[in-house]
Amino acid sequence: VSFSEEELYRPNFHFTPKANWMNDPNGMFYYNGYYHLYFQYHPDDNVWGPMHWGHAISTDMISWTEQPIAIYPDKLGTIFSGSAVVDISNSSGLGEVSKATPIVAIYTNFKKLEGDDNSKQTQSIAFSNDEGRTFTKYENNPVIDNNNIKDFRDPKVTWDEERNKWVMSLAAGDKIMFYESKNLKDWNLLSDFGKGIGGHGGVWECPDLFKLPVLGTDESKWVLFVSINPGGPNGGSATQYFIGDFDGTHFIIDKEFEKRLNEEHNYWIDFGRDNYAGVSWSNVRTKDGGKLMLSWMSNWDYAQKVPTQKWRSAMTVARKVQLKKDNNGYRLFFSPVNELSKYRSTKYKNENIKIKEETKLMASEAIDLASTEINFKISDLKKTVYTFKLSNKQGDQLLFGYNHGNKTFFIDRSKSGQTAFSEKFANKPSTAVRTSSNDNLTGTILLDKTSIELFYDNGETVMTEIFFPNAPYEKLSITSENKEFILNSIEINKLNF
Ligand code: FRU
Repeated sequence: VSFSEEELYRPNFHFTPKANWMNDPNGMFYYNGYYHLYFQYHPDDNVWGPMHWGHAISTDMISWTEQPIAIYPDKLGTIFSGSAVVDISNSSGLGEVSKATPIVAIYTNFKKLEGDDNSKQTQSIAFSNDEGRTFTKYENNPVIDNNNIKDFRDPKVTWDEERNKWVMSLAAGDKIMFYESKNLKDWNLLSDFGKGIGGHGGVWECPDLFKLPVLGTDESKWVLFVSINPGGPNGGSATQYFIGDFDGTHFIIDKEFEKRLNEEHNYWIDFGRDNYAGVSWSNVRTKDGGKLMLSWMSNWDYAQKVPTQKWRSAMTVARKVQLKKDNNGYRLFFSPVNELSKYRSTKYKNENIKIKEETKLMASEAIDLASTEINFKISDLKKTVYTFKLSNKQGDQLLFGYNHGNKTFFIDRSKSGQTAFSEKFANKPSTAVRTSSNDNLTGTILLDKTSIELFYDNGETVMTEIFFPNAPYEKLSITSENKEFILNSIEINKLNF
């Protein structure tokens, strides 16, 4: 049997453009029933090139409908990553009476200059009076010029309720600069953050600053996402986060958080190799005040070489972000948005399964293993390795699981199918240290044709990776290293789209 690229690799429930190259999510906002997702897009090729903002809309962050390109390059340059806000009070004056509430996009203009690796990166705005469908560039762009800062990009704007102003976080080299504005046009530099703090193995990109309630308390803290490339925990691109306070001028990292960060930097939104440039939706929160986000599901180490031709890259599933505090201090938790559960159909459930040797849990004839949500619980934790295995008759296998001996989660895609397109794709398994000390290990596993998203311990540790099997995976099994154990529960939901 041979499969078409569409059959084998086009995701069932992760956003991909119909054709050509995509990277970072951009300009995400919610308004009037629609979640908007713009994205770094090269409409003329399946590799990175002159960037545009592609566009897609959704009513639930799961099923997306691609829209016409929203923002095109202009004389100031191509259109790099950025954000969009709903300018409810028309603070910008860019709204028109009798039209919809203005949406203002804030993005980086990237202008290539003579010489290798030489460019000018400035910040510009564009406005939409038709709910984000079409944008008009502001006549006095750029709104933030650049005096020779090499990497200066990815403006993310948030409304600061306490101080009644817009606050922008902007990546500059390997730090973040904060700006304020009353009208989205005139910006004042406030401060910068990052020297000597966190990972500095690469350039800082795509920041996001927002306030989050600490679940179950009256307290709130400020969260700062910073993508870094390279320098991720398992190589290449990844996104770290910081917890602290914002006083209107400075982001002040929480002292205890900083201490733990210095001891062991395990504050990454995802430890897998394929979650980058993630940012949150503006103008919407979950019922408990959480934020909603998604990320680019790839890695600059190999993104331009992955074995799809018609399109390249997908986004992660949309996730909610919550902040909790326990004996180990502040920590973010990530889980798939609740809207995903409305796609559940056929369910398989079992409890107290005694596992002695490799045991089949599901075959794809019963539940399609490329459109699946799995929840499991293991209370019987021994110093052994628990390994889930996805496999097909072609001999491809994806291994993932947990080693309770060294308290480490892992994904091993070295035999998962096509891997030779890049040395960096499968040179070693990805790992993540388990930070939870819960006696039960619980996890949610999302499987699509070319991706796995693992949410362990209610989202305390997350791993996302992509893979390219030679044929669809047909079987899911579980085994442990020479020890018997009880799989306390497993629930496998087919997701119907
Ligand atoms: C991150 C990034 C951004 C930039 C964009 C260009 O992946 O490098 O910093 O704005 O991609 O496409």
